[in-house]
Amino acid sequence: MKMNKILSLAVMAALIPATVALAGPPAPVKHGIESMDYKWNAQEGEKVEALKLKGDAKNGKETYEVCGACHLPSGAGRPDGTFPQLAGQHATVLIKQIADIREGLRDNPTMYPFAKEAMVNPQELADTAAYIQTLCIPTDHGKYEGADAATQIAKGKELYEKQCKECHGMNGEGNKEKFYPVIAGQHYKYLLRQMTEIRDGKRRNANPDMVKIIKPYTNEQLVAISAYQSSMSMPGAMCKDKTGSKKK
Ligand code: HEC
Ligand code: HEC
Repeated sequence: MKMNKILSLAVMAALIPATVALAGPPAPVKHGIESMDYKWNAQEGEKVEALKLKGDAKNGKETYEVCGACHLPSGAGRPDGTFPQLAGQHATVLIKQIADIREGLRDNPTMYPFAKEAMVNPQELADTAAYIQTLCIPTDHGKYEGADAATQIAKGKELYEKQCKECHGMNGEGNKEKFYPVIAGQHYKYLLRQMTEIRDGKRRNANPDMVKIIKPYTNEQLVAISAYQSSMSMPGAMCKDKTGSKKK
């Protein structure tokens, strides 16, 4: 990517709080997953091309500079739940999510202009994903902080092991081949927001089997299961120190 492009995107990122609509994201569609707009993982478009390519993490690091404005240079995101932690996520998952955001299948007006402009072709998408995947997962992320944390985590663990472990794994490691995201190290508030949106049919790119499973969950159950998920850690993928960048 050319330097002047990085600079102009960095300027855009610095202006984020003041900006509302930069490059005009597609208007959000309000139907549930039964609607025609719903699509989970159709094997088409730039996603398929990017998945076939070998990502170059060195090039991806350059592109990621723009992303770091929100997701932080370490990929840690923010505990307040606005920006998810990305570090250590499977490249396949990253490519799918970014392609979905670019296509307007997953609403993300804040990030849309950056997702569109920072990576201009499938190769740059593959490179950026390859880089993010190499980052270690910070241990110092947003957890459930209520006084009843132990009870919530225990309740959440029971639900998780019954209904979620099969896909997201014992330690929240997901599954690279099947596009199941890493959950370990993710912020509590982000998890709760995503689970609510997936349950309520607002994330139109969500796995249909998962949607079926969480449809009957109450808000209280989502709190418990998010509390548990935010307590998980993945052996071998976590950072050695709080600042990130070195794996244990
Ligand atoms: C202006 C802030 C901003 C910038 C810059 C930004 N993002 Fe994001 N990103 C977000 C927000 C907000 C979300 C969460 C959206 C939601 O709640 O669904 C997100 C979500 C994501 C996700 C989905 C994560 C998940 O767990 O499903 C990926 C992947 C991602 N961003 C990658 C990137 C990459 C790569 C770049 C750089 C090209 C980038 N982002 C730049 C704000 C930003
Ligand atoms: C059939 C496999 C499957 C099952 C079962 C499943 N999930 Fe998922 N989950 C997925 C996939 C795939 C995604 C990514 C959605 C997409 O493709 O956009 C996801 C996304 C998520 C996310 C959002 C992650 C992010 O970074 O945005 C959370 C949180 C989550 N799942 C938690 C759960 C919990 C808790 C359960 C059990 C109640 C569960 N899942 C059951 C496959 C599954």
